[in-house]
Amino acid sequence: MSIVFEKRNQVFHLSTPNTSYVMSLMDHRYLTHLYWGRRIQTPKLKHILQNRYIGFSAVVASGKRPFSLDYIKQEYPTGCNTDYRTPAISVVYADGSRVCDLQYAGHRIFAGKEKLEGLPAVYVEEAAEADTLEITLRDPVKDLAVLVSFTVFNTTDVITRSVKVINEGTDPVILEKVLSASVDFEAQDYDMIQLSGAWGRERHIERTPLRTGMQEIGSNRGASSHMQNPFLVMCSRNAGEDYGNVYAMNFVYSGNFTAGVEVDQLFRPRMFMGLNDYDFAWRLEAGASFAAPEVVMVYSDAGFGKMSRIYHRLYRTRLVRGKYRDEPRPILCNNWEGTYFDFTEKKILEIAAKAKELGIELFVLDDGWFGKRDNDRCSLGDWVENPRKLPDGIAGLAEKINAMGLQFGLWFEPEMVSPDSDLYRAHPDWCIHVPGRERTECRSQLTLDLSRDEVCDYVIEAVSNVLDHASIRYVKWDMNRHMTNLGSAGLPPERQKEMAHRYMLGLYRVMETITGTHPDILFESCSGGGGRFDPGMLYYMPQTWTSDDTDAVERLYIQYGTSMAYPISAMGSHVSAVPNHQARRVTPLKTRGDVAMSGNFGYELDLTKFNQRESRLVKAQIAEYKELRTFIQSGDMYRLRNPFEGNTAAWMFLSEDKKDIFCAYFKIRAEVNGPLDWVRFTALEPNARYEDLETGEVWNGDELMEIGIAVDLQGDAQSRTWRLRKK
Ligand code: DGJ
Repeated sequence: MSIVFEKRNQVFHLSTPNTSYVMSLMDHRYLTHLYWGRRIQTPKLKHILQNRYIGFSAVVASGKRPFSLDYIKQEYPTGCNTDYRTPAISVVYADGSRVCDLQYAGHRIFAGKEKLEGLPAVYVEEAAEADTLEITLRDPVKDLAVLVSFTVFNTTDVITRSVKVINEGTDPVILEKVLSASVDFEAQDYDMIQLSGAWGRERHIERTPLRTGMQEIGSNRGASSHMQNPFLVMCSRNAGEDYGNVYAMNFVYSGNFTAGVEVDQLFRPRMFMGLNDYDFAWRLEAGASFAAPEVVMVYSDAGFGKMSRIYHRLYRTRLVRGKYRDEPRPILCNNWEGTYFDFTEKKILEIAAKAKELGIELFVLDDGWFGKRDNDRCSLGDWVENPRKLPDGIAGLAEKINAMGLQFGLWFEPEMVSPDSDLYRAHPDWCIHVPGRERTECRSQLTLDLSRDEVCDYVIEAVSNVLDHASIRYVKWDMNRHMTNLGSAGLPPERQKEMAHRYMLGLYRVMETITGTHPDILFESCSGGGGRFDPGMLYYMPQTWTSDDTDAVERLYIQYGTSMAYPISAMGSHVSAVPNHQARRVTPLKTRGDVAMSGNFGYELDLTKFNQRESRLVKAQIAEYKELRTFIQSGDMYRLRNPFEGNTAAWMFLSEDKKDIFCAYFKIRAEVNGPLDWVRFTALEPNARYEDLETGEVWNGDELMEIGIAVDLQGDAQSRTWRLRKK
C-alpha cells in the first residue's frame, strides 16, 4: 500500500516508487504539509513540525497550543482567518459570513482511483495501479465538507489531487474560489517555469527566479489558451535537463485556470493550481456537491527530462483513451494551407491522389465544406455539405478517397455559430451573450452556449449526423475564439457566474458522447492551433494540432516547450509550403520533414505542386516515418539541446526496449567560421555498440554519450538526423 496513516503520529505518508509526500494532522485538526521530494522514511515530527510566533500574525488560541495558521504549512488553506496567504477556497455562507475553518473530520484509503463525474482525469485500469486517500475536512461552525483526494501511483512518480465540496447544511452557499491543489514549501531559492505565448507562438518556456509576493499565471478566456498553459514548474535554481529538484503541476482542465506561487514574508513558497476565480461563483444548494478538476503532480530529483518522461508516459497510457491510445497514428495530409477555402472536389481528389502516391494514409478535408462557407464570415453551425463544392456530398467524397486506398477525415468547429447561419437565425439566444448588449464577434463568430443542455444536444446531433452518414475515420475539432460578453440565457441571474465552468462541463459531455459513440474515429483537437493543448482535451481526443505556425524554426521552440508536459504522440506537426505562411521564412524541405517527424507527422500543402526531386524526398520521409513512428510516438524522449538557450535544438527518441534510437539535430542560424558542434547522446548503454543504420558505422555507447558525433552544418535552418540500432 503506497498510503500509510501512522495513527500514533497522525501522519499520512504517501509514496510512489521514488518519492514521498508527507502530511500530518496538527492538534488533530489542521491538515499540514510536511514534505514532498525524494522517497524517505517518515521524518521525526518534533524536528519538522515547527511552530513559531511571527510578528503581526494572529493566533488560533484554542487547542493544545496557540499557533498562527500563517506560520503552518498547509494542504488546503482557507481565508479570512489567521493565514494571510492566498487561500485554496473562498465561501460565502447564507448569513453573509466568509470565515471558513476546515478541520480534519476523517479519512478513507482505498485501492484504485474513482472517476471524476463529468470531468476528465487520469485513470487506472487495475485497482492495484494506485491507491487513493480521501481526507474529509469540515467547518465546525457551518455544515460544509471538503473532500481532498490524493491518488498515489504505484509504478510511476505521480500523485494526482482533486477536491469535492459538499454543502451539508440547509441553506445554499456560494463558492467563490475552489482550487484543486496547494502545497507549502520551506524557504529556498527556487525558479518558476511557465509555458507562455500567443497564437502561433504557443508554450514558449519562461523561467524566472521566485520573488516575495504573488506570481501567477492563468486564463480567463474560457479556454486554457495559447497565452498560458495550465502547467507550472517550481525548481531548484540549478535545475537543468538532467539534474536538480523539480516540482510540477498540470491541470486536467480546458477552461479558465489559475496557477502560481506566493512567496511569503519568510520566503516560503505556496504553489497552487485550480479553477480561476475570475467571474466565477457557484451556488451550492443544500445537499449538493461541487467537484473541482484534477491536478497531476510530479516530482523529479533529476531535472526536467525525468519530469517530462513521467508525464509523457502517464498521459500516453493513462489519460488518453480508446483505440488510438495504443495504435500508431496515421500519416495525414490536410488541405488547409494548400487551398484554404478555395477548393473543388476535383482539386481535393488531385491532392488525395498525390498523397496516396507518396505513401500518405489519411486525407483530411479542412474548413469550408459546409453551408455556403467560402470565407470565415458565415455558416458555422450549419453542418450540411455545400453541393456546389462537393456534388456527391461528404459521403461521396469519402467513398472516392477510400477507393484510392486512403482514409478520410473531416474538420468541424462545433462550439461556434456564425451570425450569418441558419442555426443563428433559428436560435439567436443560443450563443454566449448579455441581452441588450453588443454581441462581440471574433473571426466573425459567436460562441455557442454549451452551459445549456439543449445546445449541447444540438451539437451532438449535428456532428453525429455527418459522422454517421459517411466513412469518416478522423475528425479535427477546432475552436477559434475566446469568450466575451459573459452571460447565458439559460441561467438565472444568481447563477450567471457559473457559465464558463458549466460550458466546460457541457463541452466534456458533448465530447464524451461523440467520441464514445464513434470509437473508430481518431479525434484531433485544435483551437487556432494549440490554444487548448491541455490534459483535459487529451482525455477525449488523443492528439492536438500543436500550433497554426507551421514554420520549421518556430516549431522547434513550440514543440520543445510543449514537450515539457505533453507527449510526442499528442503533437500534430506537419510539413508546409515555403515561404511559410505565418513566418514568411524559407527552410529546406529536409528540415521541415525532420521537425514534423519529431511529432505526429503529416503534410499541409498542395502536394501536387511538388517537383520530382521533392516528391522523391517526401516519399522517403514518409517511408522513414513509418519505420520510426512506433517508438517516436510511444518511446521515451530525451531533449539534448534547448533552442531557448542557443542556436541549436536536438532531441532523441528511445524505443521501449532501448534498442532503437532516432535523434534529430537542428541548427537555426548559419554561422560563419563557427566551431564544430558535437551532438552527445544520452541514456545509452556505455558498453553496448550502436549501428548507424544509414552509414553502417558502429559506435560505442560511451563514445556517443561522452564525445558525441561532430556536425558541421552550413546555412540557416539546417538539420541532421541519425537512426541507430543497438547491436
Ligand atoms: C484554425 C486551425 O488551427 C487551422 O488549422 C484551420 O483548421 C483553420 N482554423 C480553419 O478555419
